[in-house]
This record gives sequence, C-alpha cells and structure tokens, in this order.
Amino acid sequence: MRERTHNCGALRKEHVQERVSLFGWVHRRRNLGAFLFFDLRDLYGKTQLFLDPQKFPALQEIIDKVRLEWVVHIEGTVRERSSPNKLLATGEVEVEVDSFRILSSAKTPPFTLFGNDAVHEDLRLQYRFLEIRKGAIAKNLLLRHQAMLHIRNHLSHGGFFEITTPILGKTTPEGARDYLVPSRVHPQNFYALPQSPQLFKQMLMISGMDRYFQIAPCFRDEDLRRDRQPEFTQVDIEISFSHQEAFFAQIESLMSSLFQEVEGTEIPTPFPRMSHEQCLNLYGTDKPDTRFGMQFIDLTEIVEKLEAPPLRPFFKMDALAKGIVLPKGAKKSRKELSAYIEAVQKWGLPQLTWIKRKEGLLSSNATKLFGAPALEQCANALGMQEGDLALFGIAPKKILYPALDRLRRRLGEEEGLQDPKKRSFLWVTDFPLFTKEDAGGLASAHHPFTAPHPDDLPLLKTHPTEVRSLAYDLVLNGYELGSGSERIHQIELQEEIFSLLGMPGEEIEEKFGFFLRALSYGTPPHMGIALGLDRIMMVLCEADNIREVIAFPKTQNASDLLLQAPSSADKAHLQELGIKL
Ligand code: AMO
Repeated sequence: MRERTHNCGALRKEHVQERVSLFGWVHRRRNLGAFLFFDLRDLYGKTQLFLDPQKFPALQEIIDKVRLEWVVHIEGTVRERSSPNKLLATGEVEVEVDSFRILSSAKTPPFTLFGNDAVHEDLRLQYRFLEIRKGAIAKNLLLRHQAMLHIRNHLSHGGFFEITTPILGKTTPEGARDYLVPSRVHPQNFYALPQSPQLFKQMLMISGMDRYFQIAPCFRDEDLRRDRQPEFTQVDIEISFSHQEAFFAQIESLMSSLFQEVEGTEIPTPFPRMSHEQCLNLYGTDKPDTRFGMQFIDLTEIVEKLEAPPLRPFFKMDALAKGIVLPKGAKKSRKELSAYIEAVQKWGLPQLTWIKRKEGLLSSNATKLFGAPALEQCANALGMQEGDLALFGIAPKKILYPALDRLRRRLGEEEGLQDPKKRSFLWVTDFPLFTKEDAGGLASAHHPFTAPHPDDLPLLKTHPTEVRSLAYDLVLNGYELGSGSERIHQIELQEEIFSLLGMPGEEIEEKFGFFLRALSYGTPPHMGIALGLDRIMMVLCEADNIREVIAFPKTQNASDLLLQAPSSADKAHLQELGIKL
C-alpha cells in the first residue's frame, strides 16, 4: 500500500481495525519501556504511532535512526488508545505500525519549531518554509484561500467577470513610487509594475465589459508599515451604469457574506456612513476605529472665551480645543497622566490638559489657568460623569487631530475597548477632490480620475479645495480596507482636472495620453473600488502584522530574506539591458 489512505488529522474511532498508510513529518517521539510512540504530523493534524520492535524487528533500525522533522511513510493498523488524548482530534486512536519508510532526512532546524522560544523575526523570515510548517501562518493561508474562493464565487454570481490585466505596464496614478523594469528590446526604456489596475479597469468599462473584478497583485515602492507591503493584493472591482446606493449594497453584501462564511460573524447592513468632514471632526482621522466611542468633543467656544493670556497665541493660529473622555478613567495615576502628556508631545502636540471628576470634585493640571468655573463648564460640555477622565488639547487641526487620534487609540487599546471579535465597518464619503500641496499647487486627494461632486462643480475654478469628490473609503476597525469612487467619464472634465492639477500638456500626453484617447470614444458612467485583500485577511485572522497573512512577505525595508532579494545583477545581464551602474 504505497498511497496515502488518510491524512494525519483524519483517523477516528470508526477506523479501528482498518489498515492505513500515512505520510508526514516526525513530530515527537517518546520511549515507553520496550515500546515507542511517535507523533506523525502534517497540515491536517497529528496521529500517534505505536511501534513495537519486538513484534516487528525490522522497525528497530529505523527507530534508532529517525529524527524530528524527517519525512516518513508508515503503514499499520488503527487501534483504540487505552488513554485517549482529548486535546487531539485523533486522540482516541493510534496506529500500530508494521512498516516504516524514511523518505527524507532533515537538518536540525535553526529554531525550535514547536517550542516557546523567542525567535528573531529575521530568522523566521529567512526560514519562512519552516515558519509556515509550524502551523499558525499555514492556518492564515488556508483562510486566505477560503476568502478568495468566496470573493470569486460571490462576485461571479453577481455578474462580475474576472479579467487579468498586465503586470508590465506604464506608470499608474496612485501616487506612490513605481517599481521599474528595464526593457532589453527597447534600451533606456522601462515598464512600470502596476500600483493598481486603475486605468485598465476603466478601459475595460470603455470596452463595454460592464462588470469587472480581479484579485490583482499591486506594487508600490513606499515606506512600509504594519499594514503595508510593497507587493500586496487588491480585490479590484469596477461597474458601469450603476449608482452609489446599488454599488454600496453590492460591496456590503460581499463583505458581510465573506465574514459570515469565514468566521461566522453576523454583520448588519447597510454599513454606517459618515462624511469625511464629520469623520475628522469626531475622530481626527479618516479611518476611525469605531468599535468604541470616545469621540472628540469641541471645547473651542468655552476655552476661547477664557482669554487666558497663555492661550491667546494658540487661538491666533486658528487653534481648536478638543478633547476625549475616558469613562471610569479618573483612577489613572499622575504617572500615567504624565506618560500621556509626554506621548502627545512626542507626536507634536505641545500640551495636554486633563480633568478628573472624582467623588463629586473636579481636579486638573490646568486649574490655575482655567479657574474653577471654566473647568466646570468644560467638564459639563464633555459630558463627564463621576469617575471619568477627560483629556484635551488646544492646537491647530493639523497638529491636534493626529495626536488626539493616537491618544484615543492608545487608550482604547490600554482599556481593552478594541474588542478583537467586533467588526465595525464604516463608509467614509464626500472626500475633498484636491489637497493643497506644500508648494501651493493642487494634488488629487485620491487619483485624478475621481469625479467631482456634481453640486460642487461651480466651485472647481473658484474654490477648488472646497470641491467634494465622489470618492469613498471602506473602513473596518481602524483600517482603511478599501477605496474607490465614481469616475470622470467625460473627456472635457478629465482635461479640466488635469489642467487644475497643473500638469503640463506633454506630461499628460506622455503619462495618460492612451487613456484620454480611450475616454474620447464613448465612455459609460462607471464606478469602482479596490479592497485590500491582505488587510481584510489581517482582520479575519486577527493578525497584528500584514506579514502574517502573506506566504512570502518582505521585511520593513522591502527585503525578501528568504530569497535574499533584491540582489545585484551580473554585468552581462546589465549590459544586455543597456544599464551602466
Ligand atoms: P488605494 O490606493 O486607496 O486605491 O488602494 C486601495 C486599497 O488597497 C490597499 N492598499 C495596500 N495594502 C497593503 N499594502 C499597501 N502598500 C497598500 N496600498 C494600498 C488598501 C487600500 O484601501 N485604484 C484605486 C482604487 C479605486 O479607485 O478603485 C486604489 O488603488 O486596503
């Protein structure tokens, strides 16, 4: 019997007396007097093997030789265990082995695969195949497979077609740096790897393909973070002749069915929505973690009226006073409060005021500056209850919002308010169309193919920074999960946007001429979104780092430690490409 009859997680009581053939890795061995027990492991589980060399003398030689992580094939008969192991799915049975073949030996791994030793991540990335073998990453990869399958089936049933678009292309409009690939056939010329298939999916709509999706590899040469890789995957979607309500419902159905299928969570739809402006006002960020409250509360009116001389310079700089309340936070010690003050100072906010309401009394680090009546007014405006702590800052938005957002998230984490089982989706809508660059010019807040809000069209020429766009983001538990928009489908408007962006004609032609040509041959109104598959998987796998949901990820500085990539190229190859270093 040379074929695998079962995997290592399959055997149960009903298989007792059956003859089986198993393959796997030697996981553990235990001597019990004259007998030997081995655990055999594969992706699916572990099975206990029982070896009795007195009964089967041929086994002795192998038993002496075989080591952990060697790959073996055994045959034998299933029998009931005298003392079942309740922690193991196969724990009621074991296999009495009569034939044992070594298929390959293994070097001693550079780290203990199944111990609790702290192992530096670099080493784990270098030996990624062993890290995956340990099981936790493997489990994430299986969930990822299940999620991709669900996404493909769900979208196909919804009338979307998966269409592959090129990897070797031209610069894309997402605003990060491109990865370039030199062309041998066209010396001095380069392809760019796609930052997203944005223009291809729009051209597919112009081609009449109506509904497109793709699980698409994307590449961006940008600074990496916990939820960012240079190479990542989007669930990229585009649809013609639809409208926002219908499209949001389609995406909500995709996401809620996905979470239902993969983790059994019921997610109510429709998802809540909030305008970009409202979102910043309440959370100081466009990707708020709405699993918990602690929204920003505005105290500007009260604090401005104080006319305390030390505060005057702040308000001259367009400062706002905003704060958050930590329910039952009055128990925080002076030391903890000092740590918050230090933290926000590190994040650029010069001062943080705290107020405690404890045993009916207010205390604060700014009692002198504010005076008791103003403090009382602030506490009331903040809605402080007995036992609460309020923290607030006074600074221009640009400084105050990011610092207060970080403080809110830190407190949320410290207080266990970010329930890892909770799924809080949010649509953020009505983003501004443009942002102002430091040099004074305009830049697209999303990408230059995003349609302006029709109500704001009259402002395009006069007050471009006040124009809202038809862009939307999907946020989940503080992650920007996806981003999309209704697109510009009229060539005249597209040209106007390019001109407002201050792009010279030659640059437009050079970068996007092909697209403008396509746009001028009958373009349907269309819209779409790209959801970050890796980020979706981070939430589904409850992973802290995007690397945990990618089979072969890169490090923080974009290296692949397993492949030792990037690496130098040999001279002949460079010569062929016409590249001199
Ligand atoms: P955007 O650039 O916002 O939009 O990207 C869409 C989503 O892709 C994911 N994402 C990333 N995930 C991991 N690592 C990265 N470096 C990374 N960069 C982006 C995020 C993000 O929300 N073409 C437009 C979409 C459209 O308009 O349809 C686009 O790519 O989850």
